[in-house]
Amino acid sequence: MNHKRICKLYNKMISLVEFRRLAPHERMDVFLLSHFLARIPRTGSEPLDGDINDPLSLFLSLLPAPKTAPEILAILPNSLTPQEDLAMSIYSRFNNNNFTIHSHMNTIGHGVFPLASRLFNHSCAPNAAPRYIFTSPQSVIMEVVALRDITPGEEVCVPYLDPALTQSRHQAFQYTYGFTCECHSCILIRKFGQIPRPDSLDVTSSVSEALRSYVGVDHMVGANLPEPSLADLPASLRCVLHESYMEHLSEQFSKASHEGNYSIAVPSGFTLLALYLLVYPHNYPQIGLHLLELAKTNWNALVSSESSGETEAKVQARITLKHAQRILSIYGREGDEHGPLDEIQQLEKLLGE
Ligand SMILES: *[C@@H]1O[C@H](CO)[C@@H](O)[C@H](O)[C@H]1NC(C)=O
Ligand SMILES: *[C@@H]1O[C@H](CO)[C@@H](O)[C@H](O)[C@H]1NC(C)=O
Ligand SMILES: *[C@@H]1O[C@H](CO)[C@@H](O)[C@H](O)[C@H]1NC(C)=O
Repeated sequence: MNHKRICKLYNKMISLVEFRRLAPHERMDVFLLSHFLARIPRTGSEPLDGDINDPLSLFLSLLPAPKTAPEILAILPNSLTPQEDLAMSIYSRFNNNNFTIHSHMNTIGHGVFPLASRLFNHSCAPNAAPRYIFTSPQSVIMEVVALRDITPGEEVCVPYLDPALTQSRHQAFQYTYGFTCECHSCILIRKFGQIPRPDSLDVTSSVSEALRSYVGVDHMVGANLPEPSLADLPASLRCVLHESYMEHLSEQFSKASHEGNYSIAVPSGFTLLALYLLVYPHNYPQIGLHLLELAKTNWNALVSSESSGETEAKVQARITLKHAQRILSIYGREGDEHGPLDEIQQLEKLLGE
């Protein structure tokens, strides 16, 4: 279908009252769906069942979402939806196969990658993760990177949702995707039952202190990053899995680093590192990204303290940077230019490596 004709259809759609009633993300869905429908060839031939070389039948072989949205389908012009059930089938696949596209781990959009949906199941403790390469503004390629050695016969899994969503992910899997996650981490968290809210979110609280010491990163990391066990987490520390705790720590860390309040920034950064090591799988890019932020904070603390020589802050800046470098090199470059790997190089120079 030519561009001019699509434009005309779009103009007609967006002038509808029903369209204006939709939330912004639903309007995007309408565009996505009409674009998709416009690209289906009108040959009259049925999609070949389950043939992954035929884009439409590959797409239709994906699992549909448990719910659909008739109000979105109602807006599509008839000329785009010769078969209403086909439009419905396609839309229900969008919902359930909706990947978050990121550049340097910042969300910049959403997309459906049918082959990836077919090939990779979800795990909250995944051994692989997707990254996105932009070859042109119109074209995004997903690559799946192994985060550790994978033994022959072991299933390769990627996270469909952020594994740090320790509380809300269970519901999201049920309502959005229609499955119950049976990964090691979900089984444990379900066994823990209701996660209590921490008494105090403060970084100087006994909970934060106990978390750092349980993980083994109390104000410093060594040559090896610990791999704390979630299964052995003491009952008194289960409250750190309450999502409000990570949210608060992240805010506190970035605010204090930004304001140069290092007596708060450094301990909250290490506490957040302890939490990341607990909830994220080995070599997860988010851990590497945070280690880089921690290295920068240590460096800034060093510069502002005017002390010279091999101070603790300098040693920690070096070690955290080394870990960041190792983890982010496994993940590799993502998105556009000037990513975290470039920042690491700059900081290495400053540190005189
Ligand atoms: C994809 O996910 C985003 C973010 O959750 C949401 O806004 C959007 O409506 C989803 N699109 C589809 C088609 O499910
Ligand atoms: C994904 O999980 C389903 C259900 O457990 C299984 O049938 C399927 O083979 C798995 N897919 C892959 C690619 O391993
Ligand atoms: C650092 O942050 C703490 C906690 O928010 C605050 O009590 C303290 O006054 C701040 N110090 C500076 C120098 O801003």
